[in-house]
Amino acid sequence: MTVLFVNACLRGDESRTLTLCREYLEGIEDVKEVNLSEMRLEPYYGDSAAYRAQLEAKGLFDDPMFDIGKDFAEADEIVIGAPYWDLSFPAALKIYIEHAAVMGMTFHYTEEGRCEGLCRAKHLTYITTGGGQVSAMNYGYEYLCGIASMFGIPETRFAAAENLDVVGADIEANLNEARKVLSRLKATR
Ligand SMILES: Cc1cc2nc3c(=O)[nH]c(=O)nc-3n(C[C@H](O)[C@H](O)[C@H](O)COP(=O)(O)O)c2cc1C
Repeated sequence: MTVLFVNACLRGDESRTLTLCREYLEGIEDVKEVNLSEMRLEPYYGDSAAYRAQLEAKGLFDDPMFDIGKDFAEADEIVIGAPYWDLSFPAALKIYIEHAAVMGMTFHYTEEGRCEGLCRAKHLTYITTGGGQVSAMNYGYEYLCGIASMFGIPETRFAAAENLDVVGADIEANLNEARKVLSRLKATR
């Protein structure tokens, strides 16, 4: 069983989100990690999107630009870790999703014109931490629920440690709340 870990924790070893992700992944074998800080992906623009669409239409998926989509389509589980930035997550994660959204690989359209997912993962687990509250305006997770549905991933799961930047907050206690949720999620993988 392959777990794809999308590491969008851009502060690296300083990241509290990454700490939670590493704890969740501990002991799980066969994890493939993609580190968005290292990848520094470019967004798609008109010309690059058109070039990709032309290859997608011909089913020519050998170009390395499709490796991200291939990983996403083939993983048995997806884990995404990202901090809560500007009510969602860092732009680097949105760009990664652009690269994963390959027509004919992670989704396609049926002859009736219906969008149908092609990914094999049974669930997508999203782990985040926020300086303030996350759950009231959880737009990053809501977007990823939409993407999971588009890609044919039937279940999405979520854990957040909130209020980590609130003056006087008990940060460890707030992280522990997320840890409780994560240990339940880990037990039901
Ligand atoms: C660019 C940036 C944007 C942020 N936006 C928000 C925000 O909209 N709401 C919030 O509660 N915290 C926000 N924060 C605070 C982070 O969510 C918080 O510090 C989080 O725990 C960082 O995760 P990390 O330790 O994994 O890097 C932001 C921090 C940064 C650097």
